[in-house]
Amino acid sequence: MPMRIAHLSDPHINLKYHPQHLPRLRRVLEDALGRMRADHIIITGDLTSNADARDLLTIRRLFESLGILKSSKLTVIVGNHDVFGGPHLADDLLAFPDRCRRLDYDEKVSIFQDTFAELFSDMITMDAQGYPFLKRVKNVCLLGFNSIARHSLLQNPVGSNGNISSEAHRQAFELAKHHAWQTAGSRIALLHHHTFRPRDVAHLEVADGISRGGIAARIEQHTLKLHGKRQLFKLFKAMDVDLVLHGHIHFTGSYTRDGIPCLNSAGAVYPVFRGGGYYYNVIEVDKKEQTCTAVKLEKKLTKALQEDNSLAMSVR
Ligand SMILES: [Fe+2]
Repeated sequence: MPMRIAHLSDPHINLKYHPQHLPRLRRVLEDALGRMRADHIIITGDLTSNADARDLLTIRRLFESLGILKSSKLTVIVGNHDVFGGPHLADDLLAFPDRCRRLDYDEKVSIFQDTFAELFSDMITMDAQGYPFLKRVKNVCLLGFNSIARHSLLQNPVGSNGNISSEAHRQAFELAKHHAWQTAGSRIALLHHHTFRPRDVAHLEVADGISRGGIAARIEQHTLKLHGKRQLFKLFKAMDVDLVLHGHIHFTGSYTRDGIPCLNSAGAVYPVFRGGGYYYNVIEVDKKEQTCTAVKLEKKLTKALQEDNSLAMSVR
């Protein structure tokens, strides 16, 4: 039986400043579970917009109500907004860097992990905080990273830059020796931050209609970067990673880096360009074959998927 995974990212739930995101996330999840018959859901970070514990609990209740608060049905990883939050009013802009400097990074990651404890219950990990981890779902093995860099006045002043430590690289390489990874039909790496460079923008397949100029302008910002991407892809190649899933820049699309297909699903709930609609990615794994499709959210859940609303890409 083929396995179908729905990937979305960056719902930025915040009942105070983005109340519309919660019903939108529910619609995307219902669409994935209903119309697309997804066996498993993956959300690659920024579940919340402001790292608010009440928003985390609201999301937890949503997962519970949909019957997916279980490891076999759902995988989540932490995003920068789940740790540092973000400025939501003009007044916040001045105070936000100081808030980032003062907050307790480890405590915030722990709150995220504890809120979704059921989803992390069967992870294989060597780290006290749980990243990187391996998780086997049927014939797919997931490798989840925490790509959120710690605060630094020069390197990460507002918490949005990314980094995966050399120790996390070492642990991931060790985890790849586990039979759960070695015997998997498909090996998928998960991280929050995007892995494309400015020069890759021309090769992005964009589903939701955001302009390449819009993407390029955003990734030129010095506060949205993942450091060490070249080393990370060396690791992915050494580990035989088949697919990379991420979020962080708010559009839905795909690209290939160093021969590895990569999907971004950060436009599912909160896209930069709203005119194109709401898309998320669906990955179908059948033995060693993966097929990835960007699926447009339809208003009627029962409506059949229109061919012209999808961007199909055979990736292996
Ligand atoms: Fe982010």
